[in-house]
Amino acid sequence: MDSIWIKGGNPLKGEIPISGAKNAALTLMPCALLTEEKVTLANLPRLADVDTFSHLLNQLGVSTSVAGVKKGQIGRRMTLQANDIASTVAPYDMVRKMRASVLVLGPMLARMGEATVSLPGGCAIGDRPIDLHLKALECMGAEIELTAGYVKASAPKGRLAGGDFSFPVVSVGATENALMAAVLAKGKTQLFNAAREPEIVDLCEMLVAMGAEIGGIGSNVLTVEGQAELHGCEHTVGPDHIEVGSFMALAGVTGGELRITGTLPGDLRMIRLVFDQLGLFSELDGDDVLVPGEQQLIIKRDAGEYKSKIQDGPWPAFPADLTSIAVALATQCAGSVLIHEWMFENRLVFTDKLISMGADIVLCDPHRAIVTGPARLRGERLSSPDIRAGMSMLIAALSATGESVIQNVREIDRGYENIDVRLRNLGARIQRIAAEDQTPAMHT
Ligand code: EPZ
Repeated sequence: MDSIWIKGGNPLKGEIPISGAKNAALTLMPCALLTEEKVTLANLPRLADVDTFSHLLNQLGVSTSVAGVKKGQIGRRMTLQANDIASTVAPYDMVRKMRASVLVLGPMLARMGEATVSLPGGCAIGDRPIDLHLKALECMGAEIELTAGYVKASAPKGRLAGGDFSFPVVSVGATENALMAAVLAKGKTQLFNAAREPEIVDLCEMLVAMGAEIGGIGSNVLTVEGQAELHGCEHTVGPDHIEVGSFMALAGVTGGELRITGTLPGDLRMIRLVFDQLGLFSELDGDDVLVPGEQQLIIKRDAGEYKSKIQDGPWPAFPADLTSIAVALATQCAGSVLIHEWMFENRLVFTDKLISMGADIVLCDPHRAIVTGPARLRGERLSSPDIRAGMSMLIAALSATGESVIQNVREIDRGYENIDVRLRNLGARIQRIAAEDQTPAMHT
């Protein structure tokens, strides 16, 4: 398995274009199942998870083709067509690789009247149940059976019927599955307490381009008038706000100056506000985010001098995926901050890796960490349990003194395109070590 060697201390400088959003791509791709016509996705990020999803769709009989991209261009154009569905079964060996595979359930059930998908199981960050996905589909008349680790769903009359569903917990994936089912259901569906993340807006816009009728886009009440069929479309994947936050933190901890281009500033309000609370100032220039260099990162205390606190939550709150990145950033900020990630059971358990580098972190419980800085970090040999923990370690390693090696860099590749090349182009001392050369010298 490839690993990445890093030698910390260099400030990142220059301009970085943002990739298409991973979590948008993974819900836009299964939309191809909703029509027999071609759909084309532009600005698709080149990520391991996108490749995994492409293989799953191929197994179901969806044809995919990628147009050549010019050198240096990021993102790909992929054309998908589901005019000859060969199977309605998403097998365990595919789903276990990537939870998002469960997003074929809604569209396949809506189009084919049946779908069998392996239960995705938990992952490093938590249990990751799919009960809300199933309840939402049952609200549309689906019959759901759980047998031998598989979800077997069917539409009794061959077609789902619109229904109302209130999410007791805001769920991005369950909202996505429910939307992709409702657009072909007979009649009207209303989804209350729906997720509102940028990837949900991206999904709604693509479904509308395919002929769906959706009201309340961007709000937490979505209304869908089901259609008998949908047609093909061309859609551009929106920029990845999680990647923007990750690069802002990389600039902050290295004292570098970055221009992050091609963002959607409206998606960055909370991210910039929370990072500003940690002392990381940024400004907007059109669709670009400018992070000035050599900032003194001083944590702002809340009014009344209480300890500063960062808490994640459903959109438009601070994204859960950036809490891991905020922990790494906070290790380099003067002061102390409580970071509360309440949505997942284990996302913060990776902090022991940062502590081994010299970070001053108290993990109060699996959901709460108190980070005090600035701490001088030293290079370490690390291994990442998940995508965002991997980026957090990369941030720590680039701000550390000495060399680090992050093994199983596949976890980072799942969510960040070509990360070593892009960071090296910004001045980072970083090298990918192919699996067969796993003997990196550590000269710390
Ligand atoms: C999506 O996961 C993202 N993944 C996650 O990003 C992200 O952290 C998460 O949304 C929150 O924004 C993809 O889009 C592929 P949820 P998802 O359903 O949809 C509970 C990354 O690194 N819940 O919004 O699985 C759940 O336990 C990944 O890019 C149920 O109880 O998250 C959690 O507490 C990591 N029952 C809360 O809802 C369900 O049926 C939010 O989870 C579903 C979820």
